[in-house]
Amino acid sequence: MENGEQLGPRIFVIFGGAGDLAWRKLVPALFDLACDRSMPAHFSILAVDRAPSTDEKLRRRLQDGVRKFSRHGATNSAEWNEFSRHIRYLQGDFKQARTYAALSERCKALDEQLGGDAQRIYYMATPPSMFGEIPKYLGRAGLGRGQPNGGIVVEKPIGYDLGSARSLNATLGNSFDESQIFRIDHYLGKETVQNILAFRFANPLFEPVWNRRYVDYVTITAAETVGVEHRGGYYEHAGALRDMVQNHLMQLLCLVTMEPMVSFDADEIRNKKVDVLHAIRPIDPGAVHDSVIRGQYGEGWVGSKKVPAYRDEPGVAPDSQTETFVALRLFVDNWRWQGVPFYLRTGKRLGRQASEIMIQFRGVPHQAFPAESTIDWQASRLTIAIQPDEGIAQRFQAKHPGPTMHLRSVEMQFNYQDAFAVRSPDAYETLLWDVMKNDATLFMRADQVEAAWRVLLPVLYVWSAAPPRDFPNYAAGSWWPEDAQSLLAQGHSWPLPIELARQGAPQKRHSKAAAAARAP
Ligand code: BG6
Repeated sequence: MENGEQLGPRIFVIFGGAGDLAWRKLVPALFDLACDRSMPAHFSILAVDRAPSTDEKLRRRLQDGVRKFSRHGATNSAEWNEFSRHIRYLQGDFKQARTYAALSERCKALDEQLGGDAQRIYYMATPPSMFGEIPKYLGRAGLGRGQPNGGIVVEKPIGYDLGSARSLNATLGNSFDESQIFRIDHYLGKETVQNILAFRFANPLFEPVWNRRYVDYVTITAAETVGVEHRGGYYEHAGALRDMVQNHLMQLLCLVTMEPMVSFDADEIRNKKVDVLHAIRPIDPGAVHDSVIRGQYGEGWVGSKKVPAYRDEPGVAPDSQTETFVALRLFVDNWRWQGVPFYLRTGKRLGRQASEIMIQFRGVPHQAFPAESTIDWQASRLTIAIQPDEGIAQRFQAKHPGPTMHLRSVEMQFNYQDAFAVRSPDAYETLLWDVMKNDATLFMRADQVEAAWRVLLPVLYVWSAAPPRDFPNYAAGSWWPEDAQSLLAQGHSWPLPIELARQGAPQKRHSKAAAAARAP
């Protein structure tokens, strides 16, 4: 991160400052920024929450989060003491005008202490039900518009469907200018996600083959081993489609398919992404069952741990029909991608954690090698591994050493950790830093959010009218419901996660069986 000390003073107001997000993500990220001297020279963090507490109590709890989750890890007391003196607590109900009157007073006092003209960043780290309330109250209290370098940060989910997203966007727009609204999709803050643009547009090698002529199909996977943990209450009303596809997977799809940007201007990049969303072929409501598969996990084993079925998780109804897995097939109807299927899938309690994009290239137009030399032949494929193994792997054909011409697939790999001997910042560090700099490139614009909902509307509509009959339909720890295979055209397959070798770590010799398992 760059040096932040030249930035003017900032006040971070965190609604839900005593909650999980502030503890786990926001304050550890701000602490890491401070350790790297990327915070403004003068700043304050004002946590607003309902529960009675004190500055000291809150600081103790937040220190625990910093120890557990920050990049700098266990804090030495000097660093923590220096940082924590910026943290203050304000008790208040988010739905009462007097909270905002008190907030206004506190901000004025902090502003004076910070030297005046402090820009305010209001972060809604609250349940989504508050997203439409807080901006209203801020606007009424005169705390909205009017700061060139401040604004409001809202986490996904932005709405529950197209209608609610529009109404939330309108509410936000009543109190803040669009340029002051930072809609977070934390996937966009991940280094490897940002690297997709670098990989595609900073290397002239790939762009010429990045189209329907050379690409057979693309898979985008976000597989998690975790279940819903303590978030059953939220997840019951969201499900995998709303929780992951509408935002994270759509963002990845946009980055993989968008046209080259002309400049690195925030709106230029966001325009190119919106173009993709507008080009997605509408899903025919009559054919939702053919192009979208849903699943829910039953009990099973994740590694050596026995885990309960989704329906037995806390906060989940015993007959819940919420999907914990989705796979879908989309087409992008433009010149570049016409006819290329994009297979997206995401799920909880799957066999391994892996977020990856796989570009499967077409085979050669004419196979000139003798048939016996190409028994192990596989078309080239490129895998962009987003997490947990961060890197890129390119599979291609090579001649197997020996007197005969025998071709085999080999893999060339780039591993982030080997290439750059620094630990990547957490996505929240990048995003908070960008909010402070007022750089909206990595945030979702209102029209983009709405366009993504529009793509999924037919699915939401059909699913609400036709509840699933076969839930649970995959065991925790397995890979996906069998039905997910039915989305794939003949010859296409869902890839297994790649394993990126680390330098120094012994290279795994892939057995024939393992190689076969990974074959398309
Ligand atoms: C969140 C979802 O947006 O992303 C969670 O609400 C999901 O359900 C999480 O687990 C995945 O993000 P990451 O960064 O942990 O892979």
